[in-house]
Amino acid sequence: MPSFQPLVFSGVQPTGNLHLGNYLGAIRRFVALQDSHDCIYCVVDLHSITAQLVHDDLAGQTRAITAAFLAAGIDPEKHIVFNQSRVMQHAELAWIFNCVARIGWMNRMTQFKDKAGKDRENASLGLLAYPSLMAADILVYRATHVPVGEDQKQHLELTRDIATKFNNDFSDRIGQLGAGVDMTVGDERVNGFFPLTEPLIEGTATRVMSLRDGMKKMSKSDPSDLSRINLTDDADTIAKKIKKAKTDPEPLPSELEGLEARPEADNLVGIYAGLSDRSRESVIAEFGGQQFSVFKPALAELAVEKLAPIASEMRRIMADPAYVDAVLRNGGERAAVRAEATMKTVREIIGFVGD
Ligand code: AMP
Ligand code: TRP
Repeated sequence: MPSFQPLVFSGVQPTGNLHLGNYLGAIRRFVALQDSHDCIYCVVDLHSITAQLVHDDLAGQTRAITAAFLAAGIDPEKHIVFNQSRVMQHAELAWIFNCVARIGWMNRMTQFKDKAGKDRENASLGLLAYPSLMAADILVYRATHVPVGEDQKQHLELTRDIATKFNNDFSDRIGQLGAGVDMTVGDERVNGFFPLTEPLIEGTATRVMSLRDGMKKMSKSDPSDLSRINLTDDADTIAKKIKKAKTDPEPLPSELEGLEARPEADNLVGIYAGLSDRSRESVIAEFGGQQFSVFKPALAELAVEKLAPIASEMRRIMADPAYVDAVLRNGGERAAVRAEATMKTVREIIGFVGD
């Protein structure tokens, strides 16, 4: 029986500086999946005009994210790296999904509520429809696995809802065209054109918190630069930010449970674990009972050791924008072939007249 080919897809927006949360929650996972999977990694420039229309240097930001992908170890020849806007099938499928998804589904998205703030009437229509474009990014390749940080979980559930509704609403046409694929959902065997994509939210750092407030996510948009470690920060800046990171006066606990009511300590232990590919348990086994005056310098040293080579490689790659553009062009051409194969069938399923 045919089933969906395993395929990994993920995207990062070209807005703001990449930080440690993006690296540990997403990019490091992207790198790890390359050995076992066929992967497509996308700089999602269409998404970045949803919250803010005009950007000073969208092209430069797009190249910087691409350089970060490459510097972190993504192989653009074995896999695909490209920017979203050059493969117009993303926008085409997003339109169709705008007609599949319900307004109520979009209104429930916490990222929309956060980004739209109090004045929802004044948010762009694109910001509301954002998850429909995200579903299209994934499903235009019929991707089966999506590595992301914890904050994207709800969007991936919505992606499954869109795939399910499309598969159900068009089940007769999909059957007539023989375009369906069998898949297992829970204990059930179902048939559909789009897979029900699995989120991959893995590792010890799926939600890296701000260095200034252990209850807030580390984010590109935090006004305080001390709240995050940027991938481009130099060694002194990294060390300074870790030294200034908010903590409590207690030493690190000797048991994992001791981190429960201590979000800042928990975050720093999670970062150490993420950067060293170790479990939180093993970090606590090494540093339990130690003061932050011991742990913070060790963490700073580790962060510099892991991040400085990426920053310098990023700078090297960005000095050659023609190379970066060639990577994106080549990736875009290969992505478009796959996306068009999906869209040809989608157009037939819906009944659009074409060649
Ligand atoms: P964005 O910066 O929103 O485009 O996010 C790019 C990727 O990084 C997504 O997979 C996010 O889930 C992930 N990400 C963003 N912030 C964090 C964070 N603080 N901790 C872990 N993952 C994150
Ligand atoms: N919404 C994601 C974020 O803000 C970015 C994104 C867009 C994405 N399309 C995607 C992630 C498809 C995974 C798959 O981080």
